[in-house]
Amino acid sequence: MKLHQKIILVTGGNSGIGRGIALRAAAEGARVAITGRDPDKGQRVTAELEALGTPTLFIAADLGHEAEAAGVITEVIKHFGGLDIVINNAGAGTRRAPVEAADGPAARLHKLMHANLHAAYHVSAFALPALKARGGGSIVNISSTAAMHGTWGNYGITKAAVEALTRSLAVQGAPFGIRANGISPGWIETDVTQGHPTVDRAASLFSRMGTPDEIARAALFLASDEASFVTGQTLIVDGGMTITDYPSQPWLDAVGAWKLFPDLP
Ligand SMILES: NC(=O)c1ccc[n+]([C@@H]2O[C@H](COP(=O)([O-])OP(=O)(O)OC[C@H]3O[C@@H](n4cnc5c(N)ncnc54)[C@H](OP(=O)(O)O)[C@@H]3O)[C@@H](O)[C@H]2O)c1
Repeated sequence: MKLHQKIILVTGGNSGIGRGIALRAAAEGARVAITGRDPDKGQRVTAELEALGTPTLFIAADLGHEAEAAGVITEVIKHFGGLDIVINNAGAGTRRAPVEAADGPAARLHKLMHANLHAAYHVSAFALPALKARGGGSIVNISSTAAMHGTWGNYGITKAAVEALTRSLAVQGAPFGIRANGISPGWIETDVTQGHPTVDRAASLFSRMGTPDEIARAALFLASDEASFVTGQTLIVDGGMTITDYPSQPWLDAVGAWKLFPDLP
């Protein structure tokens, strides 16, 4: 088991991708702390983890507030005696941090910065000394392919900042054996994307969205010792969406120009 006895904190572990990462970390032998703002969802995922025999801690917190992020790290150390891995997954897009018509430009940016950049920044700031005290550790920040697309406005801006945070954490952590990496998911099946009018084919080269567990496996590879020489990187896990020029597909299909090997269908 890749994470045997490791102590992992998964922010936003009470929901969606974070829940998937927490469950996979449990399967890999970790002790798991999760956070979220909604305690009911937190208790539900805690019960799932405990049913697997995993030592589990849920902490309710809004990590966009510095003091609450500090409190989470204190609580994890008090409960488990240390911290080895941090997955900064908590975050929100415009469905979870809706923009009101009356919101001015600052409010629109702040809502998403609060959930995406500020949460990851605060948690990392208080986690670094804890990881250093263990002689090393690993941070994985969950970004989004929206960081590459101008169609996502403030959400994309905040996720680009998360990727810059990853690189800065990698430089600052390296002397202490701390690695920092990121995952940039494409379209993933969670409550947030449910019912979205996305054409399945366009979600990925595999004509479907990804699953939280597919993000979890990639994130926990980066978090584990298997990635011991990987730091400062953000891995795109999107089923090939971002390498694809979907509007060109009908035309390329018609002329067959994209096919390297015509014998293959
Ligand atoms: N689903 C996708 O297609 C997709 C694609 C690319 C990137 N992502 C990223 O993946 C991460 C997880 O997304 P998801 O789809 O799993 O969404 P989700 O189900 O809405 O989960 C988001 C989690 O973040 C927590 N959260 C939000 N704002 C917070 C704050 N200010 N402080 C503390 N916790 C906060 C939520 O807590 P509560 O539920 O308790 O409020 C929830 O646990 C996010 O960073 C998202 O941007 C998702």
